[in-house]
Amino acid sequence: MPRFYLTTAIDYVNSRPHLGTAYEKITADVIARYKRLGGLDTHFVMGNDEHSQNVFRRARELGQDPLAYCDVMEQEFRDVWGALDISFDDFIRTTQPRHKAAVEAMVTRIASAGDLYQADYEGWYCVGCEAFKQEKDLVERLCPIHRTKPDWIKERNHFFRLSAYRDRLLAHFAEHPEFLQPEVRRNEILRLLEAGLDDISISRAGQSWGIPLPTDPSSVVYVWFDALINYASAVGLGTEPARFDTWWPADLHVIGKDITRFHCVIWPAMLMSAGLAVPRQVFGHGWVHLRGEKMSKSLGTAVDPIDAARRFGPDALRLFLTKEIPYGADGDFSFERFEERYNTDLANNLGNLVNRVTAMAVRYRQGRLVPAGSPSRLQDLAAGTIAGYTAAMDTYALHQGVSSVYRLLDATNEYLAERAPWTLAKDAANDAALDEVLFTAAESLRLAAVLLGPVMPSSTQAILTRLGDHTPLADRRLVTDGAWRNEGARAITSGDALWPRAEPAQTATPPAIVSTLLHKPGALPVSDHQSPVVPAPDPTVPAGTTAHVPGATPAPVTPTSTDPATPAGVITIDDFMKVELRVGKVLAAEAVPKSKKLLKLTVQDGADSQRTILAGIAESYTCEAIVGRTIGFVANLAPRPMMGLVSHGMVLAADTDGKAQLLAFDTPPAPGTRIR
Ligand code: MSP
Repeated sequence: MPRFYLTTAIDYVNSRPHLGTAYEKITADVIARYKRLGGLDTHFVMGNDEHSQNVFRRARELGQDPLAYCDVMEQEFRDVWGALDISFDDFIRTTQPRHKAAVEAMVTRIASAGDLYQADYEGWYCVGCEAFKQEKDLVERLCPIHRTKPDWIKERNHFFRLSAYRDRLLAHFAEHPEFLQPEVRRNEILRLLEAGLDDISISRAGQSWGIPLPTDPSSVVYVWFDALINYASAVGLGTEPARFDTWWPADLHVIGKDITRFHCVIWPAMLMSAGLAVPRQVFGHGWVHLRGEKMSKSLGTAVDPIDAARRFGPDALRLFLTKEIPYGADGDFSFERFEERYNTDLANNLGNLVNRVTAMAVRYRQGRLVPAGSPSRLQDLAAGTIAGYTAAMDTYALHQGVSSVYRLLDATNEYLAERAPWTLAKDAANDAALDEVLFTAAESLRLAAVLLGPVMPSSTQAILTRLGDHTPLADRRLVTDGAWRNEGARAITSGDALWPRAEPAQTATPPAIVSTLLHKPGALPVSDHQSPVVPAPDPTVPAGTTAHVPGATPAPVTPTSTDPATPAGVITIDDFMKVELRVGKVLAAEAVPKSKKLLKLTVQDGADSQRTILAGIAESYTCEAIVGRTIGFVANLAPRPMMGLVSHGMVLAADTDGKAQLLAFDTPPAPGTRIR
């Protein structure tokens, strides 16, 4: 069986996954599932990048041993990926012995090729990026991504002769135009290669957290040099040679557009130097934005993927992200838009179609459908859909693949409206026509469910079961199951609404924006996301009608639940703990134009993260007086637009006769520390 080895970027674990990092894993999972559907022996690897200084600092902040902290985070990441139905085959951690062995093997090979040398390094280093920065990379002396001042470092480092690989890299790009996709990313890297490459430092001196450099154990391997090797260690470099030969080179690395330089310049050059094959392809997807800004834990603009999946179940989220954001481009996430698309694509369209077709099959044919009639227009359209779908999915135009299936669903709705089976059912003389219409609509729906399987694995399985197709997911194949079948009687069952229309009440809760996504014990998986209890609607009920039965949809995020035994006006400790109070440090302050009361504060809220908070303290504090102060603030308030800006939190202050007095601490705790 042909093989396909697919990886995602491995995540830093200084905080939990956010919807941006989850987007990568979801879309890679869609690809992995599509490859399995295509019959490829697919190996899908994800993992955690643990040797970052941010991880080390975060563990220290929590008073934990870094490795013990990473162990806990591994479980947190696995829980989130499990809740999103990500079907990875292996999960690598860079602190695992198999990875250490691979890093040693790789560095030794590169050293033997004569590509390492020692020199002094002096320059900027952004810990947030874990990257050496040149003066020209900075904006107003700050890292443009993290908006923090990089560290100036001066140390004796080991360097990799990256510059020696420029011509080979250019030749590789020329011979393999498919190597980096989409095209816009390829062009960026080509420009960079044409401008010339500098050698890079691959070690950090005097640090304990990392893999000791085999050629100089007083230094550790630079975290990116270490992390990239995970793709090879996961399939046995340095530990299982036969396995490595089986799986290497990787067929596809799915990564974000911010890290293409590492994957398409440094990584292939490392492999060339080590005498190993270069991965076949890298896909640099775009960013998920929140209100126009990159979703990021350090910028405080992150949505918790668990909150998003809880809203309508993981499949609805997977569909939204895959269908709405053209793969390769950036896209904005908002709960409002998510709900709108849920109602349109799932409640009104696919869900309604499933209800109508199965309910009619049960009502008019006791659930037994037989093939009848000659090939229909819908069958012709389905053939085009399959071709369009595979062409799109094979080139990772995932959004187009899904849209082509939606065109088939639209056509099926039109077909039903045109042939009106509910009218045909009124006269026995139309029996043959009714058989034909019901069978054709059910087959079209079956096909659509097979094609949407990689995107919505569990709900399409439920649809297929209702349509009498009981092939286990693992045995489903595009070539057989993804083709129109004009034969075989079908035993159809109807059931509860898969996606009841979201009521406005469900939208009342403001979107949950999680600013710090710090280690959150007990983050809930979404296992109970769908408990359909709605009776099947009457088949004549038009699309878009609300199916509203309490409990039919995942519970919306509700305001504090009070224990009936608790007196009015009193909250429980659980209620209190929902408010995340934290310590912050004011890095900058400025007046808000046209406001007498507000100051715009840039607040450091963790080891390496910051956020904007608008505070109504301008009448009590000058900007100069507040910069440098340690404050208390509410960290998990939904962002609030004020005076054309957005506040990501609320500063705690006592109100004494209209004057604000900020909290004071005996010894200022580190930013991010929780206040209870
Ligand atoms: N640890 C490095 C990757 C090493 S791979 C050898 C890293 N980690 S990360 O946690 O910061 O990011 C993990 C992945 O998520 C990266 O591919 C990154 O581009 C992606 N994303 C981070 N924020 C994102 C969005 N807002 N939207 C989409 N993808 C995002 O980088």
